[in-house]
Amino acid sequence: MFDALTRQPDDPLLALIGLFRADERAGKVDLGVGVYRDETGATPIFRAVKEAEKRLVETQPTKAYVGPEGDPLFLDRLWELTTGDAGRGRATAGLQTPGGSGALRLAADLLARMGTKGIWLGLPSWPNHASIFKSAGLEVVTYPFFDVPAQSVQFDRMMEALGGAAPGDAVLLHASCHNPTGANLTDDQWRAVSALIAEKGLLPLVDIAYQGYGRGLDEDAAGLRTLLTAVPEALVAVSCSKSFGLYRERTGAIYAACSNAETALSVRTNLAALARTSYSMPPDHGAAIVSMILGDAALKADWMAEIEAMRLRVTAIRERLAAGLSGRWQVLTSIREQEGMFSLLPLEEAQVLKLRAEHAIYMPTSGRINIAGLKTAEVDDVIAKFLSL
Ligand code: LMR
Repeated sequence: MFDALTRQPDDPLLALIGLFRADERAGKVDLGVGVYRDETGATPIFRAVKEAEKRLVETQPTKAYVGPEGDPLFLDRLWELTTGDAGRGRATAGLQTPGGSGALRLAADLLARMGTKGIWLGLPSWPNHASIFKSAGLEVVTYPFFDVPAQSVQFDRMMEALGGAAPGDAVLLHASCHNPTGANLTDDQWRAVSALIAEKGLLPLVDIAYQGYGRGLDEDAAGLRTLLTAVPEALVAVSCSKSFGLYRERTGAIYAACSNAETALSVRTNLAALARTSYSMPPDHGAAIVSMILGDAALKADWMAEIEAMRLRVTAIRERLAAGLSGRWQVLTSIREQEGMFSLLPLEEAQVLKLRAEHAIYMPTSGRINIAGLKTAEVDDVIAKFLSL
């Protein structure tokens, strides 16, 4: 009976992990999956995470189920971190989820259950966005976001396209550190798109997965906060994978900001019912760590200092790449203004494959590079290899 299935292609991003591991060449460079690496090439466990884990091992009283909603304290603390003043006191339905992808899938299932027809997705976007929404039965409609050859946001075209959305349509926005382009909206552009969303009665779904890696923890959430003050309802999918380095612990949350407490309660019961028929209850370990860090002044300060140091390392590498690559591609000076882990280089697939075959430099065929995967010591060499294309 299994013969009814046809073989599926590997996820291109995740397949890169295996290809890179299997490459035995010394000096290979992994600019693939969005994972932070330090100057030794390791993905460190945050000091505050290690400490919280130790305390958890000693003090955790049980491994009994957490329930489909997860831990309310974790949800409150993460909401505060993400939305600050804009979220405080707002009627909200939150659910702890298995990572940011789990949050996005629950959001998509909720939209489908609400009868939402289309979800607008800026191009290019994280490839899994469209796959998740389509799996939930939503129709994906696209709007132009980023012009790769010009390395700039196509804001006028984006607004024009969204102007054609029907009331009740959902719109996916990246809060900051856009994946895959690193490009972001200015404060004025956030205000303008928020006003358009409110005026047209659209439902924004904001994906925030890299808070702290762009301009700073508050700065990276500023656009989302502007939006929240302008719209009556919004969905926010939060990932703790990168911001707390908890990738494999699958830690995240989905929130619905609602216009009143009664609606929030109804949304929460729907999200919980959807979770129950999917994975039943979320994993706890990562959320317990995040909650402990955010609830402890010393741990929080240490976590903030560590993520700031990571941010500065990425920013310094951006500077070097921008200076080096703009010699050949003038537009790539904009790598300096882009933020977070990614930039999207104007490369042909054949050039990406050549870098892989001849120089053991790994990146997806889209031309996206994970800047946080580069060591300072290898930047000049990597630049030289790009220039040799
Ligand atoms: C990425 O875009 O590389 C990350 O978000 C990891 C993933 O799951 O694709």
